[in-house]
Amino acid sequence: MISVQGLTKTYGGFTAVDNVSFECRPGAVTGFLGPNGAGKSTAMRVMAGLTPATSGSARVGGALYRDIPNPGTQVGVLLDASAQHAGRTGREILTLSALTMGLPMSRVDEMLALVSLTPAESKRRVKNYSLGMRQRLGIANALLGDPKILILDEPANGLDPAGIHWMRILLREYANRGGTVLLSSHLLHEIEVIADEIIVIGHGKIVAQGTKAELLQTAGTFVKAGDASALANALTAAGITAGPSGDGGLRTETDPATVGKAAAAAGVALVELRPAEGAGLEEMFLELTSDTQREAVTAEGATA
Ligand SMILES: Nc1ncnc2c1ncn2[C@@H]1O[C@H](COP(=O)(O)OP(=O)(O)OP(=O)(O)O)[C@@H](O)[C@H]1O
Ligand SMILES: [Mg+2]
Repeated sequence: MISVQGLTKTYGGFTAVDNVSFECRPGAVTGFLGPNGAGKSTAMRVMAGLTPATSGSARVGGALYRDIPNPGTQVGVLLDASAQHAGRTGREILTLSALTMGLPMSRVDEMLALVSLTPAESKRRVKNYSLGMRQRLGIANALLGDPKILILDEPANGLDPAGIHWMRILLREYANRGGTVLLSSHLLHEIEVIADEIIVIGHGKIVAQGTKAELLQTAGTFVKAGDASALANALTAAGITAGPSGDGGLRTETDPATVGKAAAAAGVALVELRPAEGAGLEEMFLELTSDTQREAVTAEGATA
């Protein structure tokens, strides 16, 4: 369990994280979604005890990170995968972590195998790693102490599609075993495929939170017919407001079942009828963060 309550972090007069509260439950992958500069890394740094909160608190497994004895065995943290010691090999980094945590050396090889870093790669210096290899090493490091909680900042950064698929399975199985996962991303699609619960942050404030299903529900329906104007008329007749969508179809806030019935009642043959997932969530994301983006533009304009 991760419990963040009224967390605020200011730098001078600037508020990076503004009265943020949320919980991440065991057995679920929680996605922390927000545009660049939203405050995700700052909030995660407070959770991992790397920077003090200005006010409020972040508890991991019921305690403040700094009060946890041997924290690596309770909470696995991956903040900046590129911040690992560049002159050491991957194997050395994991070995040092294992020594610090008092773990058997066999864990190092287990973790290297888990993240698919080959023995040859593990003996290469980290400065010669690709970004994806660094992320894998960082994930291995976070999992080394077999913690019950994972805090991962942009772990999918630099992973190829196969790597993202691998990570999704890894985190899913980890959560199914009762683990708690918080992972951040500025990319909607990554959060959409990996997370069960989503917290959206913009300009330091939480702008939406809920299960993926709840947030997708608000996304409405995409519908398309061979005869577009007949479909538009059928929806209008049924009192459903719809607007044009990118690829020749219509988008509406009404649910798919109601839209399908309206089309059937008017005898309109559909070629597509589905929850407007991808576009809907993207629109929501842009909408939810548009205020903060406007503010940023205005602020820049004012100082220019
Ligand atoms: N040490 C610091 N001093 C001053 N401002 C900071 C500091 N750390 C972060 N900030 C500011 O806080 C805001 C939030 O930054 P943060 O790194 O948390 O964003 P983020 O959501 O992780 O973004 P990204 O997706 O780009 O990683 C930014 O405006 C940033 O400039
Ligand atoms: Mg960040």
